[in-house]
Amino acid sequence: MKREKIDMNSFVSPKIREKCRDLILDNDTLKKIGAIFLDNVNRGLQKATHDKAVVKCFPTYVQDLPDGTENGKFLALDLGGTNFRVLLIELSGEHFEMKSKIFAIPQHIMLGSGEQLFDHIAECLAIFVKEEQVQQETLPLGFTFSFPLSQKGLTVGILQRWTKGFNCSNVVGNDVVQMLNEAIERRGDVKIEVCAILNDTTGTLMSCAWKNHDCRIGLIVGTGNNGCYVEKQGNAELFEDSDMGSGKVIINLENGAFGDDGCLDFVRTEYDREVDKHSINPGRQIQEKMISGMYMGELVRLALEKFTKEGLLFGGKGSDLLYERGRFYTKYVSEIESDEPGMFTNQKEILEELGLKHATEQDYVNVRFVCECVSRRAAHLASTSIVTLLHKMDEKKVTIGVDGSVYRYHPHFHNLMMEKIGELCDPSIEFGLMLSEDGSGRGAALVAAVAARQKKKARSTAT
Ligand code: BGC
Repeated sequence: MKREKIDMNSFVSPKIREKCRDLILDNDTLKKIGAIFLDNVNRGLQKATHDKAVVKCFPTYVQDLPDGTENGKFLALDLGGTNFRVLLIELSGEHFEMKSKIFAIPQHIMLGSGEQLFDHIAECLAIFVKEEQVQQETLPLGFTFSFPLSQKGLTVGILQRWTKGFNCSNVVGNDVVQMLNEAIERRGDVKIEVCAILNDTTGTLMSCAWKNHDCRIGLIVGTGNNGCYVEKQGNAELFEDSDMGSGKVIINLENGAFGDDGCLDFVRTEYDREVDKHSINPGRQIQEKMISGMYMGELVRLALEKFTKEGLLFGGKGSDLLYERGRFYTKYVSEIESDEPGMFTNQKEILEELGLKHATEQDYVNVRFVCECVSRRAAHLASTSIVTLLHKMDEKKVTIGVDGSVYRYHPHFHNLMMEKIGELCDPSIEFGLMLSEDGSGRGAALVAAVAARQKKKARSTAT
């Protein structure tokens, strides 16, 4: 017998459906958001409007994509998600080897002084190079630092603001490469040469471009949200370096800040405002707070709390944990949506963990619907930014390199994005989404390698 696919959403309670309506963005709304985004990007790129622009479009000073000839041994640091990592990477032609170690960044360091943070990073680096027995070599290092940096060159990055739960004092306004070098000097037991500082989006783009030569866009949907793309140097008015031959430069959009001027207020919900109000950076990173993993679970929790208090879920009886800020993790959203339609195995376990053993079958259907509304909206907003970039580029075939925990672990995020980009994008453009294999590590090595290649080329043309 042929089994019909059941559409469980037809069983969602009408009242819940009604309440969730403002979490659903139709294509006309997304197109409107896309048009506003394009204007934001242009304002970020142009000198006359950059200072007031909220989508900063920082030139990264990375002018070239990898061509597959990169080789050498590199160190990389990766700061900016939930963990801090130190890596040792060896590139040779098609091959690539990597060793890495994860270190925790304790909360008191995330919120402590800049000096403490960089001392901690330098200490982790020293432990790692000793363990790997490379402390005697002066290895080139790529520093993936995934926060908004205004760059003055490949090795100068001035921090503009902290995001994602970090808030160390005396770093905003300073060059983070210099702060790292000073911390290393304070220790005096390791030798390195910082060759490049980069954003995780750039690392993602580079690591995908290494394998796929159509890759022109990088996207992160993880703890935070951001994108980057390859732009003509002529359009990047803040770019102040000589052209090394490509005529292009990667732009770090910093579009997690899209909406900071209120332009997304027409689609923000009470849950978005609540999440923002209780964050450590109210009024900032508005799009990021609607999309990324740091906030997605909390958006769902706030909706569930409200619906329960209105008597629409769990027979009106919530639990302490359901009402506790931050207690509904983003991974729950992925787990709940990983249940087969009509099955609620993961969800049952999660609700029990939250003290909601009394949930009924109808609650399960409703809770899943709320999760879907929030994660779909995130995928649709991320798709809208991508479509805007695709329309802005000359290429007719473009691969987008993607990384981040939400994209990686949410069971439908990739398909939701493919579907929505397909609906919104000009049909003459061929696109694909490619999962990045460790963009922050390998990407850092590739940026350092490409920089070394360019330096060599510049030297040989000068002589
Ligand atoms: C940061 C970006 C970063 C993104 C993803 C945002 O909060 O501002 O620089 O690329 O998170 O990690």
